[in-house]
Amino acid sequence: MREREREMGRNRILLFPLITLYLLAHSELTLVTGNRKHNTCKVSGYLTGKAGTCNPENDSECCVTGQLYPQYNNSPPVTRYTHAVMTLNSFEAGGDGGGPSECDNKFHNDTELIVALSSGWFAKKSRCLKHIKINGNGRSVLAKVVDECDSTEGCDAVHNFEPPCACNIVDASQAVWKALGLNPNTDVYNITWTDHA
Ligand SMILES: *[C@@H]1O[C@H](CO)[C@@H](O)[C@H](O)[C@H]1NC(C)=O
Ligand SMILES: *[C@@H]1O[C@H](CO)[C@@H](O)[C@H](O)[C@H]1NC(C)=O
Ligand SMILES: *[C@@H]1O[C@H](CO)[C@@H](O)[C@H](O)[C@H]1NC(C)=O
Repeated sequence: MREREREMGRNRILLFPLITLYLLAHSELTLVTGNRKHNTCKVSGYLTGKAGTCNPENDSECCVTGQLYPQYNNSPPVTRYTHAVMTLNSFEAGGDGGGPSECDNKFHNDTELIVALSSGWFAKKSRCLKHIKINGNGRSVLAKVVDECDSTEGCDAVHNFEPPCACNIVDASQAVWKALGLNPNTDVYNITWTDHA
């Protein structure tokens, strides 16, 4: 009896650090993969979805009524090589871009080298009509910022009833994709960008 109790005690003493180590390693792991998955975007709130007349062309994600969508007030700092996820946007009337572009209140031809940036990078219109340099696929291209990829608002007509953007999006016209030698129908593409002096 006493022998058995002593053994159990020993096992418990051994087990405790093992469990702690496992939990530590595991939480570290989820932290790392979680960060990568969410691309360092820090959620600042949640928006309750509302479905509407969403143009689902080109893989637009349409809001579902009642679903919660994360909002992002900030984007990662801009460096010489700012990592971003490039997506495809139509800036034409009736396209999946929703309303006219925020910077000039106009629709644009998708043959133009133009982009929309996540709210943090759009920085309250401070990059409006300025050029950014986009690097991808071993090439680079200059594109003009004309719109915001709204990371805080969404699920309404102005945003084609799409959820808020992530914090790290360069939403580019077909022309930008083609200039980088990429197929615009590719879902997303990792790029880097920086402000063009
Ligand atoms: C979808 O993409 C195609 C070709 O890439 C383009 O012609 C069309 O205008 C796009 N549609 C919308 C709604 O953006
Ligand atoms: C876009 O521009 C191209 C060539 O510059 C032109 O052929 C086309 O009609 C234009 N489309 C719209 C919707 O303005
Ligand atoms: C794109 O970047 C993300 C991290 O930002 C990474 O998880 C993913 O694997 C990358 N995709 C490709 C195709 O390189």
